[in-house]
Amino acid sequence: MRLFGKGPAAPQVHKTMPMDQIMRLAGEVEDIAQSGRVQAEALDDLSADLGVPREKLYASLGSSPHLELETEHPVQFVVCSGGCQQRGALVALQTLLDAREDRMEEGQPAFDVIPRQCLTRCQQGAVAEVRTPDGTAVLTAITAKSITDAIKEVLG
Ligand code: FES
Repeated sequence: MRLFGKGPAAPQVHKTMPMDQIMRLAGEVEDIAQSGRVQAEALDDLSADLGVPREKLYASLGSSPHLELETEHPVQFVVCSGGCQQRGALVALQTLLDAREDRMEEGQPAFDVIPRQCLTRCQQGAVAEVRTPDGTAVLTAITAKSITDAIKEVLG
């Protein structure tokens, strides 16, 4: 699998979540976890209940190393939702979650969105990995457009 977007890091111009909000939402996510696992559908419901955008709940999940998203698909987009927030990680998460929802509603192949606190390529942020049965590709300096292109390339 080829690598996407190996250019320099995106500028640090994006607003990040305050730490107290991350902690509060991580507590909410922990409350809906079962044996340390959280379902995407439960996160959607929690987003609607709290009136909080899904990407913020995913970022809070990513900050909780003892919690895991329950995967449902053979393809996963793993997104740094920690320090990469200042380089657009929340926009990337929102793009992925919207595309995932659209694909599932249309019966197209979809994917899981897994947040992580850091993917150890901080100078190339925002960073994501695409994990498929054929291997893993690293996406750097991601944008809404490059994420959308990657989804199409991987899943058609
Ligand atoms: S902070 Fe995003 S890769 Fe480290």
